[in-house]
Amino acid sequence: MPGIFRTNARAVTYLAFVATLLAGFYLLELSPLPSWRVPESQSSHAGDTTISFNPEIPPCQRLAGLGDVVVVMRTGATEIKDKLPIHFNTTFRCYPDTLIFSDYAEVFQGHQVFDVLASVDDNLKRSNADFQHYLRLQRLGREGLAAEELHAESYESGPVGKNDNPGWRLDKWKFLPMIVESLKLRPEKRWFVYVEPDTYIVWSNLVRWLTKLDPSKEAYYGSEVQIGSDVFAHGGTGFVMSAPAMRKAADLYLSEPNEWHARTSGHWAGDCILGTALKKAGVDLTWSWPMFQGGNPAELKWMENKNDQPLWCAPAISYHHFTSHEVESMWGFEQQHIIRSMPKAKLESFWTREDKILHHQDMFRQYVLPNITADREDWSNLSPDLVPYSNRKGLSLGGCRALCEAKEECLQYALGPIGCSLGSLPMMGSRVEGIKSGWMLERIEHWMRNMKDCRGKTDWTVT
Ligand SMILES: *[C@@H]1O[C@H](CO)[C@@H](O)[C@H](O)[C@H]1NC(C)=O
Ligand SMILES: *[C@@H]1O[C@H](CO)[C@@H](O)[C@H](O)[C@H]1NC(C)=O
Repeated sequence: MPGIFRTNARAVTYLAFVATLLAGFYLLELSPLPSWRVPESQSSHAGDTTISFNPEIPPCQRLAGLGDVVVVMRTGATEIKDKLPIHFNTTFRCYPDTLIFSDYAEVFQGHQVFDVLASVDDNLKRSNADFQHYLRLQRLGREGLAAEELHAESYESGPVGKNDNPGWRLDKWKFLPMIVESLKLRPEKRWFVYVEPDTYIVWSNLVRWLTKLDPSKEAYYGSEVQIGSDVFAHGGTGFVMSAPAMRKAADLYLSEPNEWHARTSGHWAGDCILGTALKKAGVDLTWSWPMFQGGNPAELKWMENKNDQPLWCAPAISYHHFTSHEVESMWGFEQQHIIRSMPKAKLESFWTREDKILHHQDMFRQYVLPNITADREDWSNLSPDLVPYSNRKGLSLGGCRALCEAKEECLQYALGPIGCSLGSLPMMGSRVEGIKSGWMLERIEHWMRNMKDCRGKTDWTVT
Protein backbone atom coordinates (compact mmCIF):
# COMPACT_ATOMS: atom_id res chain seq x y z
CA MET A 1 0.00 0.00 0.00
CA PRO A 2 1.28 3.49 -0.77
CA GLY A 3 1.96 5.93 2.03
CA ILE A 4 -0.65 8.36 3.19
CA PHE A 5 -0.99 11.28 0.86
CA ARG A 6 -1.66 14.52 2.61
CA THR A 7 -2.58 17.90 1.24
CA ASN A 8 -0.98 20.67 3.21
CA ALA A 9 -1.78 24.28 2.62
CA ARG A 10 -2.03 25.47 6.15
CA ALA A 11 -1.89 29.19 5.43
CA VAL A 12 -4.67 29.10 2.87
CA THR A 13 -6.72 26.74 4.97
CA TYR A 14 -6.24 28.96 7.99
CA LEU A 15 -7.50 32.03 6.15
CA ALA A 16 -10.51 30.09 4.90
CA PHE A 17 -11.11 28.89 8.42
CA VAL A 18 -10.95 32.37 9.90
CA ALA A 19 -13.34 33.63 7.23
CA THR A 20 -15.74 30.85 8.06
CA LEU A 21 -15.43 31.60 11.75
CA LEU A 22 -16.37 35.19 11.13
CA ALA A 23 -19.29 34.08 8.99
CA GLY A 24 -20.26 31.70 11.80
CA PHE A 25 -20.29 34.51 14.36
CA TYR A 26 -22.26 36.65 12.01
CA LEU A 27 -24.91 34.01 11.48
CA LEU A 28 -25.13 33.23 15.18
CA GLU A 29 -25.68 36.90 15.89
CA LEU A 30 -28.47 37.17 13.35
CA SER A 31 -30.34 34.00 14.21
CA PRO A 32 -33.47 34.38 16.27
CA LEU A 33 -33.22 33.28 19.87
CA PRO A 34 -33.62 29.52 19.85
CA SER A 35 -36.51 28.02 21.73
CA TRP A 36 -34.20 25.29 23.02
CA ARG A 37 -31.65 27.50 24.75
CA VAL A 38 -29.79 25.36 27.25
CA PRO A 39 -30.51 26.01 30.90
CA GLU A 40 -27.26 26.90 32.69
CA SER A 41 -27.49 23.93 35.01
CA GLN A 42 -27.56 21.40 32.18
CA SER A 43 -25.16 22.92 29.74
CA SER A 44 -21.85 21.89 31.24
CA HIS A 45 -22.21 18.13 31.21
CA ALA A 46 -23.74 15.51 29.01
CA GLY A 47 -26.53 14.59 31.36
CA ASP A 48 -29.31 12.03 31.12
CA THR A 49 -31.98 14.62 30.56
CA THR A 50 -33.15 15.22 27.04
CA ILE A 51 -33.43 18.86 26.13
CA SER A 52 -36.45 19.49 23.99
CA PHE A 53 -36.23 21.64 20.90
CA ASN A 54 -38.60 23.01 18.33
CA PRO A 55 -38.82 20.19 15.76
CA GLU A 56 -39.28 22.77 13.03
CA ILE A 57 -35.80 24.16 13.77
CA PRO A 58 -33.45 21.32 14.76
CA PRO A 59 -30.25 22.53 16.48
CA CYS A 60 -28.08 21.51 13.51
CA GLN A 61 -29.63 24.31 11.50
CA ARG A 62 -27.67 26.69 13.68
CA LEU A 63 -24.49 25.29 12.18
CA ALA A 64 -24.96 27.54 9.19
CA GLY A 65 -22.13 28.96 7.16
CA LEU A 66 -21.28 26.17 4.73
CA GLY A 67 -23.37 27.07 1.72
CA ASP A 68 -20.77 25.58 -0.61
CA VAL A 69 -21.52 21.94 0.33
CA VAL A 70 -24.02 19.59 -1.23
CA VAL A 71 -24.82 16.16 0.19
CA VAL A 72 -25.50 13.64 -2.57
CA MET A 73 -27.58 10.56 -1.73
CA ARG A 74 -27.18 7.58 -4.05
CA THR A 75 -30.09 5.17 -3.86
CA GLY A 76 -32.33 2.97 -6.01
CA ALA A 77 -36.02 2.40 -6.63
CA THR A 78 -35.93 -0.90 -4.75
CA GLU A 79 -34.98 0.71 -1.44
CA ILE A 80 -36.13 4.31 -1.59
CA LYS A 81 -39.47 3.72 0.17
CA ASP A 82 -37.88 1.93 3.13
CA LYS A 83 -34.77 4.00 3.56
CA LEU A 84 -35.25 7.62 2.55
CA PRO A 85 -38.21 8.83 4.67
CA ILE A 86 -36.29 8.82 7.94
CA HIS A 87 -33.57 10.96 6.35
CA PHE A 88 -36.17 13.49 5.22
CA ASN A 89 -37.25 13.81 8.86
CA THR A 90 -33.75 13.97 10.30
CA THR A 91 -30.43 14.34 8.43
CA PHE A 92 -31.79 16.16 5.38
CA ARG A 93 -33.06 18.91 7.65
CA CYS A 94 -29.46 19.66 8.62
CA TYR A 95 -27.93 19.66 5.14
CA PRO A 96 -27.98 23.05 3.42
CA ASP A 97 -28.40 21.37 0.03
CA THR A 98 -29.07 17.84 -1.19
CA LEU A 99 -29.28 15.83 -4.40
CA ILE A 100 -30.92 12.41 -4.65
CA PHE A 101 -29.68 10.12 -7.41
CA SER A 102 -31.54 6.94 -8.21
CA ASP A 103 -32.33 4.73 -11.19
CA TYR A 104 -35.79 6.21 -11.58
CA ALA A 105 -36.84 9.86 -11.83
CA GLU A 106 -39.73 10.91 -9.62
CA VAL A 107 -40.84 13.32 -6.96
CA PHE A 108 -40.79 11.23 -3.80
CA GLN A 109 -42.44 12.68 -0.68
CA GLY A 110 -41.83 16.16 -2.00
CA HIS A 111 -38.18 15.56 -2.91
CA GLN A 112 -36.91 15.57 -6.49
CA VAL A 113 -35.22 12.27 -7.31
CA PHE A 114 -33.00 12.19 -10.41
CA ASP A 115 -32.39 9.25 -12.72
CA VAL A 116 -28.59 9.34 -12.64
CA LEU A 117 -28.40 6.92 -15.56
CA ALA A 118 -30.62 8.97 -17.89
CA SER A 119 -27.68 10.22 -19.99
CA VAL A 120 -25.91 6.87 -20.23
CA ASP A 121 -25.65 5.51 -23.77
CA ASP A 122 -28.84 3.70 -24.88
CA ASN A 123 -26.84 1.04 -26.72
CA LEU A 124 -25.17 0.10 -23.47
CA LYS A 125 -28.50 -0.07 -21.68
CA ARG A 126 -29.91 -2.36 -24.36
CA SER A 127 -26.87 -4.62 -24.62
CA ASN A 128 -25.77 -5.07 -21.00
CA ALA A 129 -27.93 -7.41 -18.93
CA ASP A 130 -27.35 -5.33 -15.78
CA PHE A 131 -29.72 -2.75 -17.26
CA GLN A 132 -32.70 -5.09 -17.71
CA HIS A 133 -33.98 -4.05 -14.30
CA TYR A 134 -33.50 -0.39 -15.25
CA LEU A 135 -35.41 -0.72 -18.54
CA ARG A 136 -38.25 -2.56 -16.82
CA LEU A 137 -38.35 0.12 -14.14
CA GLN A 138 -38.65 2.87 -16.75
CA ARG A 139 -41.49 0.92 -18.42
CA LEU A 140 -43.48 -0.04 -15.35
CA GLY A 141 -42.61 2.65 -12.82
CA ARG A 142 -41.47 2.03 -9.27
CA GLU A 143 -44.89 0.78 -8.24
CA GLY A 144 -44.60 -1.85 -10.97
CA LEU A 145 -41.74 -3.61 -9.19
CA ALA A 146 -42.67 -6.95 -7.69
CA ALA A 147 -42.57 -7.27 -3.93
CA GLU A 148 -39.63 -9.66 -4.11
CA GLU A 149 -37.60 -7.02 -5.95
CA LEU A 150 -37.95 -4.62 -3.07
CA HIS A 151 -35.56 -5.11 -0.22
CA ALA A 152 -34.96 -3.41 3.06
CA GLU A 153 -31.22 -4.04 2.99
CA SER A 154 -28.90 -1.55 1.36
CA TYR A 155 -26.61 -2.46 -1.47
CA GLU A 156 -23.55 -3.87 0.20
CA SER A 157 -20.25 -4.11 -1.61
CA GLY A 158 -19.10 -7.65 -2.01
CA PRO A 159 -18.02 -9.86 -4.88
CA VAL A 160 -20.58 -12.52 -4.12
CA GLY A 161 -23.95 -12.84 -2.51
CA LYS A 162 -25.96 -10.06 -4.08
CA ASN A 163 -25.40 -10.97 -7.72
CA ASP A 164 -29.01 -12.05 -7.96
CA ASN A 165 -30.19 -8.65 -6.79
CA PRO A 166 -30.94 -6.53 -9.88
CA GLY A 167 -30.83 -3.26 -7.93
CA TRP A 168 -27.39 -4.14 -6.63
CA ARG A 169 -26.06 -5.09 -10.07
CA LEU A 170 -27.18 -1.73 -11.42
CA ASP A 171 -25.67 0.26 -8.57
CA LYS A 172 -22.06 0.11 -9.77
CA TRP A 173 -23.06 1.88 -12.98
CA LYS A 174 -24.17 4.98 -11.09
CA PHE A 175 -20.83 6.20 -9.76
CA LEU A 176 -19.18 7.91 -12.73
CA PRO A 177 -22.44 9.36 -14.16
CA MET A 178 -23.17 10.62 -10.62
CA ILE A 179 -20.02 12.75 -10.70
CA VAL A 180 -20.99 14.23 -14.07
CA GLU A 181 -24.59 14.90 -13.05
CA SER A 182 -23.59 16.43 -9.69
CA LEU A 183 -21.42 18.97 -11.50
CA LYS A 184 -24.18 19.68 -14.02
CA LEU A 185 -26.81 20.28 -11.33
CA ARG A 186 -24.56 22.04 -8.81
CA PRO A 187 -21.78 23.76 -10.78
CA GLU A 188 -21.30 26.36 -8.04
CA LYS A 189 -20.63 23.96 -5.15
CA ARG A 190 -17.11 23.44 -3.83
CA TRP A 191 -17.60 20.28 -1.72
CA PHE A 192 -19.58 17.16 -2.61
CA VAL A 193 -20.40 14.70 0.16
CA TYR A 194 -21.50 11.29 -1.14
CA VAL A 195 -23.68 9.07 1.03
CA GLU A 196 -25.97 6.06 0.86
CA PRO A 197 -29.15 5.61 2.89
CA ASP A 198 -27.39 3.53 5.53
CA THR A 199 -24.53 6.02 5.93
CA TYR A 200 -24.60 8.33 8.94
CA ILE A 201 -22.68 11.60 8.64
CA VAL A 202 -21.83 13.32 11.91
CA TRP A 203 -22.74 16.64 10.39
CA SER A 204 -21.66 18.86 13.29
CA ASN A 205 -18.16 17.41 12.88
CA LEU A 206 -18.07 17.35 9.10
CA VAL A 207 -18.89 21.04 8.76
CA ARG A 208 -16.14 21.96 11.18
CA TRP A 209 -13.62 19.66 9.52
CA LEU A 210 -14.37 21.01 6.04
CA THR A 211 -13.59 24.55 7.15
CA LYS A 212 -10.01 23.34 7.72
CA LEU A 213 -9.64 22.01 4.19
CA ASP A 214 -8.99 23.74 0.90
CA PRO A 215 -11.70 23.14 -1.73
CA SER A 216 -9.61 24.71 -4.50
CA LYS A 217 -7.30 21.68 -4.34
CA GLU A 218 -8.15 18.34 -5.91
CA ALA A 219 -9.36 16.43 -2.88
CA TYR A 220 -10.82 12.95 -2.39
CA TYR A 221 -11.40 11.85 1.22
CA GLY A 222 -12.84 8.64 2.58
CA SER A 223 -12.15 5.33 4.27
CA GLU A 224 -9.45 3.55 2.28
CA VAL A 225 -10.14 0.06 1.05
CA GLN A 226 -8.29 -2.01 -1.47
CA ILE A 227 -9.28 -4.47 -4.19
CA GLY A 228 -6.25 -5.93 -5.93
CA SER A 229 -3.93 -2.99 -6.41
CA ASP A 230 -6.72 -0.38 -6.48
CA VAL A 231 -7.13 1.82 -3.41
CA PHE A 232 -10.35 3.81 -3.18
CA ALA A 233 -12.85 5.36 -0.76
CA HIS A 234 -15.49 2.90 0.39
CA GLY A 235 -18.89 4.04 -0.93
CA GLY A 236 -21.18 3.08 1.94
CA THR A 237 -18.92 4.80 4.45
CA GLY A 238 -19.42 8.10 2.67
CA PHE A 239 -16.74 10.09 0.88
CA VAL A 240 -15.99 13.72 0.12
CA MET A 241 -14.68 15.34 -3.05
CA SER A 242 -13.75 18.88 -3.98
CA ALA A 243 -15.02 20.38 -7.23
CA PRO A 244 -11.61 20.26 -8.98
CA ALA A 245 -11.31 16.52 -8.26
CA MET A 246 -14.84 16.01 -9.55
CA ARG A 247 -14.00 17.78 -12.78
CA LYS A 248 -10.92 15.61 -13.32
CA ALA A 249 -12.96 12.42 -12.93
CA ALA A 250 -15.83 13.70 -15.08
CA ASP A 251 -13.49 14.82 -17.88
CA LEU A 252 -11.72 11.48 -17.92
CA TYR A 253 -14.98 9.52 -18.01
CA LEU A 254 -16.55 11.68 -20.72
CA SER A 255 -13.41 11.53 -22.86
CA GLU A 256 -13.44 7.72 -22.99
CA PRO A 257 -16.85 6.47 -21.86
CA ASN A 258 -16.53 3.10 -23.59
CA GLU A 259 -13.32 2.34 -21.75
CA TRP A 260 -14.96 3.08 -18.39
CA HIS A 261 -18.14 1.21 -19.26
CA ALA A 262 -16.04 -1.83 -20.16
CA ARG A 263 -14.20 -1.57 -16.84
CA THR A 264 -17.48 -1.21 -14.95
CA SER A 265 -18.98 -4.17 -16.76
CA GLY A 266 -16.13 -6.41 -15.67
CA HIS A 267 -16.09 -5.29 -12.04
CA TRP A 268 -18.50 -5.52 -9.12
CA ALA A 269 -17.64 -2.35 -7.18
CA GLY A 270 -18.59 1.05 -8.55
CA ASP A 271 -16.75 2.86 -5.76
CA CYS A 272 -13.57 1.09 -6.88
CA ILE A 273 -14.13 2.15 -10.51
CA LEU A 274 -14.51 5.76 -9.39
CA GLY A 275 -11.33 5.54 -7.32
CA THR A 276 -9.46 4.04 -10.28
CA ALA A 277 -10.66 6.85 -12.56
CA LEU A 278 -9.57 9.47 -10.03
CA LYS A 279 -6.17 7.84 -9.68
CA LYS A 280 -5.75 7.75 -13.46
CA ALA A 281 -6.76 11.42 -13.60
CA GLY A 282 -4.04 12.20 -11.06
CA VAL A 283 -6.19 12.52 -7.93
CA ASP A 284 -5.03 10.41 -4.99
CA LEU A 285 -7.25 9.33 -2.16
CA THR A 286 -6.39 10.96 1.15
CA TRP A 287 -6.72 8.09 3.60
CA SER A 288 -9.31 9.22 6.12
CA TRP A 289 -9.84 6.20 8.37
CA PRO A 290 -10.44 6.31 11.37
CA MET A 291 -12.57 9.46 11.06
CA PHE A 292 -14.60 7.69 8.39
CA GLN A 293 -15.86 4.35 9.73
CA GLY A 294 -17.35 1.55 7.69
CA GLY A 295 -19.11 0.16 10.77
CA ASN A 296 -21.87 1.05 13.15
CA PRO A 297 -21.06 2.24 16.72
CA ALA A 298 -23.16 -0.70 17.90
CA GLU A 299 -20.50 -3.06 16.58
CA LEU A 300 -17.24 -1.14 16.29
CA LYS A 301 -13.97 -2.69 17.36
CA TRP A 302 -13.09 0.13 19.71
CA MET A 303 -9.42 -0.86 20.03
CA GLU A 304 -8.64 -0.75 16.31
CA ASN A 305 -5.55 1.17 15.34
CA LYS A 306 -3.79 1.79 12.03
CA ASN A 307 -0.58 3.72 11.36
CA ASP A 308 -0.60 4.85 14.99
CA GLN A 309 -4.09 6.30 14.59
CA PRO A 310 -6.32 4.79 17.25
CA LEU A 311 -9.98 4.74 16.34
CA TRP A 312 -10.85 5.58 19.96
CA CYS A 313 -9.15 8.99 19.80
CA ALA A 314 -10.32 10.18 16.40
CA PRO A 315 -13.17 12.58 15.65
CA ALA A 316 -16.18 10.78 14.14
CA ILE A 317 -17.18 11.90 10.66
CA SER A 318 -19.11 8.94 9.33
CA TYR A 319 -20.59 5.55 10.17
CA HIS A 320 -22.24 2.88 8.09
CA HIS A 321 -24.79 0.02 8.28
CA PHE A 322 -27.48 2.09 9.96
CA THR A 323 -31.09 1.01 10.04
CA SER A 324 -33.72 3.74 9.84
CA HIS A 325 -34.23 3.44 13.56
CA GLU A 326 -30.52 3.93 14.18
CA VAL A 327 -30.42 6.99 11.91
CA GLU A 328 -33.20 8.48 14.00
CA SER A 329 -31.53 7.53 17.26
CA MET A 330 -28.06 8.86 16.34
CA TRP A 331 -29.53 12.02 14.86
CA GLY A 332 -31.41 12.70 18.08
CA PHE A 333 -28.21 12.09 20.03
CA GLU A 334 -26.27 14.48 17.80
CA GLN A 335 -28.91 17.21 18.18
CA GLN A 336 -28.56 16.90 21.96
CA HIS A 337 -24.80 17.21 21.60
CA ILE A 338 -25.19 20.37 19.50
CA ILE A 339 -27.58 21.94 21.99
CA ARG A 340 -25.21 21.24 24.85
CA SER A 341 -22.25 22.61 22.91
CA MET A 342 -23.85 25.88 22.01
CA PRO A 343 -22.37 28.99 23.53
CA LYS A 344 -23.34 30.01 27.02
CA ALA A 345 -21.68 33.38 26.82
CA LYS A 346 -22.52 35.24 23.69
CA LEU A 347 -19.17 35.27 22.00
CA GLU A 348 -17.93 31.86 23.02
CA SER A 349 -18.72 30.13 19.80
CA PHE A 350 -19.41 26.47 19.16
CA TRP A 351 -16.94 26.76 16.32
CA THR A 352 -13.95 27.62 18.46
CA ARG A 353 -14.30 24.88 21.06
CA GLU A 354 -12.15 21.93 20.08
CA ASP A 355 -13.57 19.90 22.95
CA LYS A 356 -16.96 19.97 21.32
CA ILE A 357 -15.82 17.69 18.53
CA LEU A 358 -17.52 14.30 18.92
CA HIS A 359 -14.90 11.58 19.00
CA HIS A 360 -15.52 7.88 18.54
CA GLN A 361 -14.84 7.47 22.26
CA ASP A 362 -17.64 9.94 23.01
CA MET A 363 -19.96 7.72 20.99
CA PHE A 364 -18.98 4.86 23.24
CA ARG A 365 -19.32 6.82 26.48
CA GLN A 366 -22.47 8.75 25.66
CA TYR A 367 -24.32 6.70 23.06
CA VAL A 368 -23.36 3.07 23.56
CA LEU A 369 -22.74 2.82 27.32
CA PRO A 370 -26.13 4.15 28.42
CA ASN A 371 -27.74 1.36 26.42
CA ILE A 372 -25.82 -1.54 27.92
CA THR A 373 -26.52 -0.97 31.57
CA ALA A 374 -29.04 -3.79 31.94
CA ASP A 375 -29.61 -7.25 30.44
CA ARG A 376 -31.51 -7.22 27.18
CA GLU A 377 -33.90 -9.79 25.71
CA ASP A 378 -34.10 -10.41 21.98
CA TRP A 379 -30.79 -8.67 21.67
CA SER A 380 -27.37 -9.85 20.51
CA ASN A 381 -24.28 -8.08 21.77
CA LEU A 382 -22.15 -10.11 19.32
CA SER A 383 -20.18 -12.04 21.90
CA PRO A 384 -18.14 -14.30 19.68
CA ASP A 385 -14.54 -13.94 20.66
CA LEU A 386 -14.24 -16.32 23.55
CA VAL A 387 -15.13 -19.89 22.74
CA PRO A 388 -18.85 -20.48 23.22
CA TYR A 389 -19.72 -22.80 26.04
CA SER A 390 -21.88 -25.78 25.23
CA ASN A 391 -25.47 -25.24 26.15
CA ARG A 392 -25.84 -26.90 29.48
CA LYS A 393 -29.43 -27.92 29.82
CA GLY A 394 -31.47 -25.11 31.28
CA LEU A 395 -28.60 -22.65 31.53
CA SER A 396 -30.05 -19.29 32.45
CA LEU A 397 -28.68 -15.86 31.60
CA GLY A 398 -27.56 -15.69 35.24
CA GLY A 399 -25.63 -18.94 34.75
CA CYS A 400 -24.08 -17.50 31.61
CA ARG A 401 -23.10 -14.39 33.54
CA ALA A 402 -21.44 -16.57 36.18
CA LEU A 403 -19.29 -18.17 33.46
CA CYS A 404 -18.30 -14.67 32.38
CA GLU A 405 -17.50 -13.62 35.93
CA ALA A 406 -15.12 -16.53 36.24
CA LYS A 407 -13.05 -15.35 33.28
CA GLU A 408 -11.08 -12.26 34.03
CA GLU A 409 -11.09 -10.87 30.48
CA CYS A 410 -14.82 -11.39 29.95
CA LEU A 411 -16.76 -8.13 29.52
CA GLN A 412 -20.07 -9.42 28.19
CA TYR A 413 -22.12 -12.53 27.63
CA ALA A 414 -24.99 -13.72 25.51
CA LEU A 415 -27.29 -16.71 25.68
CA GLY A 416 -28.78 -18.03 22.46
CA PRO A 417 -29.49 -21.23 20.56
CA ILE A 418 -25.79 -22.15 20.43
CA GLY A 419 -25.39 -21.65 24.16
CA CYS A 420 -23.57 -19.12 26.24
CA SER A 421 -21.00 -16.97 24.45
CA LEU A 422 -18.59 -14.63 26.12
CA GLY A 423 -16.91 -11.53 24.75
CA SER A 424 -13.75 -9.69 25.74
CA LEU A 425 -14.64 -6.49 23.87
CA PRO A 426 -17.63 -4.34 24.76
CA MET A 427 -20.27 -4.15 22.06
CA MET A 428 -23.81 -2.88 22.09
CA GLY A 429 -25.12 -5.02 19.23
CA SER A 430 -28.67 -4.95 17.98
CA ARG A 431 -32.05 -6.65 18.09
CA VAL A 432 -31.97 -10.38 17.36
CA GLU A 433 -34.86 -12.56 18.37
CA GLY A 434 -34.14 -15.48 20.66
CA ILE A 435 -30.89 -14.14 22.11
CA LYS A 436 -30.39 -12.52 25.52
CA SER A 437 -27.40 -10.32 26.27
CA GLY A 438 -25.74 -8.86 29.31
CA TRP A 439 -22.69 -6.80 30.20
CA MET A 440 -20.23 -6.59 33.10
CA LEU A 441 -20.60 -2.90 33.63
CA GLU A 442 -17.89 -2.44 36.25
CA ARG A 443 -15.36 -4.25 34.13
CA ILE A 444 -16.37 -2.21 31.09
CA GLU A 445 -15.90 1.00 33.03
CA HIS A 446 -12.50 -0.24 34.14
CA TRP A 447 -11.67 -1.17 30.52
CA MET A 448 -12.71 2.32 29.47
CA ARG A 449 -10.42 3.97 32.03
CA ASN A 450 -7.55 1.90 30.68
CA MET A 451 -8.19 2.79 27.07
CA LYS A 452 -5.50 4.71 25.26
CA ASP A 453 -4.71 8.11 26.57
CA CYS A 454 -5.70 10.40 23.74
CA ARG A 455 -3.91 13.53 24.86
CA GLY A 456 -2.43 15.27 21.84
CA LYS A 457 -4.22 12.89 19.52
CA THR A 458 -7.79 14.06 19.50
CA ASP A 459 -7.75 16.49 16.61
CA TRP A 460 -8.67 15.85 12.98
CA THR A 461 -6.46 13.08 11.65
CA VAL A 462 -6.51 14.62 8.18
CA THR A 463 -6.00 18.34 7.59
C1 LIG B 1 -41.64 11.80 9.48
O1 LIG B 1 -42.41 12.82 10.13
C2 LIG B 1 -43.78 12.80 9.78
C3 LIG B 1 -44.41 14.03 10.42
O2 LIG B 1 -44.13 14.09 11.78
C4 LIG B 1 -44.41 11.49 10.24
O3 LIG B 1 -45.76 11.46 9.88
C5 LIG B 1 -43.67 10.34 9.58
O4 LIG B 1 -44.15 9.11 10.05
C6 LIG B 1 -42.17 10.42 9.84
N1 LIG B 1 -41.49 9.40 9.07
C7 LIG B 1 -40.61 8.56 9.62
C8 LIG B 1 -40.02 7.54 8.71
O5 LIG B 1 -40.26 8.62 10.78
C1 LIG C 1 -31.17 2.26 23.27
O1 LIG C 1 -32.24 1.36 23.40
C2 LIG C 1 -33.51 1.88 23.11
C3 LIG C 1 -34.53 0.80 23.37
O2 LIG C 1 -34.27 -0.34 22.62
C4 LIG C 1 -33.56 2.39 21.69
O3 LIG C 1 -34.81 2.98 21.39
C5 LIG C 1 -32.46 3.41 21.49
O4 LIG C 1 -32.43 3.82 20.16
C6 LIG C 1 -31.13 2.80 21.88
N1 LIG C 1 -30.10 3.78 21.81
C7 LIG C 1 -29.11 3.66 20.99
C8 LIG C 1 -28.07 4.67 21.15
O5 LIG C 1 -29.04 2.78 20.16
